[in-house]
Amino acid sequence: MDKFLNLISEEMKKAFEAAGYQADLGKVTISNRPDLCEYQCNGAMAGAKQYHKAPIMIANEVVEKLQDSAVFADVSAVMPGFLNLNIKEAFLQSYLNEMCQDEKFGLAMPEKPQKIIVDYGGPNVAKPLHVGHLRSAIIGESIKRICRYAGHEVLGDIHLGDWGLQMGLIVTELKKRQPELLYFDATYDGEYPNEAPFTISELEEIYPTASAKSKEDPAYKAEAMEATGKLQSGVRGYRALWQHIMSVSVADLKKNYSALNVDFDLWKGESDVHDLIPAMVEKMKKDGFAHESEGALVVDVKEETDTKEIPPCMILKSDGAALYNTTDLATIVDRMENYRPDSMIYLADKRQDLYFEQVFRCARKTGLVKPETKLLHIGFGTMNGKDGKPFKTREGGVMRLENLIRGINEEMHRKIADNKSMGEEEAKETSEVVALSALKYGDLSNQASKDYIFDIDRFTSFEGDTGPYILYTIVRIKSILNKYKEQGGKIDGIQIREAVNAAEKDLMLQITGFNAMLEAAFEEAAPHRICAYIYDLANAFNHFYHETKILTEEEKEKQAGWIALLMLTKRILETCIDLLGFSAPERM
Ligand code: ARG
Repeated sequence: MDKFLNLISEEMKKAFEAAGYQADLGKVTISNRPDLCEYQCNGAMAGAKQYHKAPIMIANEVVEKLQDSAVFADVSAVMPGFLNLNIKEAFLQSYLNEMCQDEKFGLAMPEKPQKIIVDYGGPNVAKPLHVGHLRSAIIGESIKRICRYAGHEVLGDIHLGDWGLQMGLIVTELKKRQPELLYFDATYDGEYPNEAPFTISELEEIYPTASAKSKEDPAYKAEAMEATGKLQSGVRGYRALWQHIMSVSVADLKKNYSALNVDFDLWKGESDVHDLIPAMVEKMKKDGFAHESEGALVVDVKEETDTKEIPPCMILKSDGAALYNTTDLATIVDRMENYRPDSMIYLADKRQDLYFEQVFRCARKTGLVKPETKLLHIGFGTMNGKDGKPFKTREGGVMRLENLIRGINEEMHRKIADNKSMGEEEAKETSEVVALSALKYGDLSNQASKDYIFDIDRFTSFEGDTGPYILYTIVRIKSILNKYKEQGGKIDGIQIREAVNAAEKDLMLQITGFNAMLEAAFEEAAPHRICAYIYDLANAFNHFYHETKILTEEEKEKQAGWIALLMLTKRILETCIDLLGFSAPERM
């Protein structure tokens, strides 16, 4: 299905052409004076110079050609030469009924689907998830869903931080605490236990302790670096211990992500590409891209057109150790070999902008990717507290994700429990569903690159530009549909009819924007576009609802037309919130 705005532009272009003007002057846009008209065209103004004619004359000639238009109910030329347009009800009605028939509401599928890898989440094993990881998970999950919905083949990869010094630190601290463990006995050559010698909570305490010690004590740090080396070079006991850290940690991560309705197709990590590093580095050297600089191995990535300094991309440290860069580059090698993606999208804090610029340039320069492979970093801003500073606990520490979620669940529960008709069980489940919408919508409704303020009162409000408001609207539609069915109303074969009032038409026009909005959300990898669209849609619906007595309508055909419109509105809202990564309850 073509986009609504395209169809009406086509009609306008034909009229310009018929009046003897260049067709592309007939571009139509949404009216910036909704009090005067629904759409507008400024082509007559644009053409005035070229045709040496007053804009109003051109506009009048175009109006002439649209007298019998099947698209426009009325077209008027207004001084100094604007074209004000209103859509014909029948045309709008038929567009909407076509949308109803289409599984994707008129979104065209790509001729050749792309293969896309979305790299998001990026948690570090054995470190508790904190709010910084929240944005990556929320935005990445939504982008993954949008790409998939737009007809592409998409894989989400968590890209675990599971290989660096942090692992050596944990191993070192464990060795101090439990030196008797078999894993540290170099002479042992039997099987290792299946049970991990620690729980997740112990693990989460061990890491910060070890990290603090290594900052104060150089000997401790040296030990941790040595342990990292042993682990990476494959010492049996260290690998076995690492396996335990991985499984305990991954089980916990799965639990946390599933509570966020976030799931990954690939649970790969930095460790998975360890073995690819030597050959990659060799090739970079052989091809003359990597050279030594102050003992380290680097690839120059600056370009003539740079306006700021772009330092070389470091491939190996002077002690030969791999870095964050190295694993990211080797991951690209792995992906190109095993999945052949057309594009890779990375979600990470915008403070990593320069880092990704270096990595991408290096990957291109050294031929790790094809010239046409797209590499995109979506750098997101910080989630701040009400004081405008990065979100902290009351004590000033880093806020754990679990606690943040608990807080918002509790707040939501307070609000929902007011609904006395709900049992405790339902109230609890409902508040979790609604709280997730508050959290995700609060994040996604901002352009990703912007910082935003985590404002629990605003996010959990049932009014305004919030997740709960959207859910409330869906629940309201569900309730009307249920009552309609209880009254014996029919659903099968009903069709949307011509709008009877301005609020209804407004709702209808809002709906028509779905495919154009989704295309833009995909192309710009921008979930906030969906939020803006559904907020307007929910407003348009609620306005219509207040203006129209749907359930008491005597004329059954008319009522059925409204029900069809409600069903379409609901399907679209539900599709959109699914793309944002949350769902609606039955009631709230
Ligand atoms: N683990 C990293 C961190 O916590 C984020 C990983 C981002 N993704 C990537 N491919 N580098 O900062």
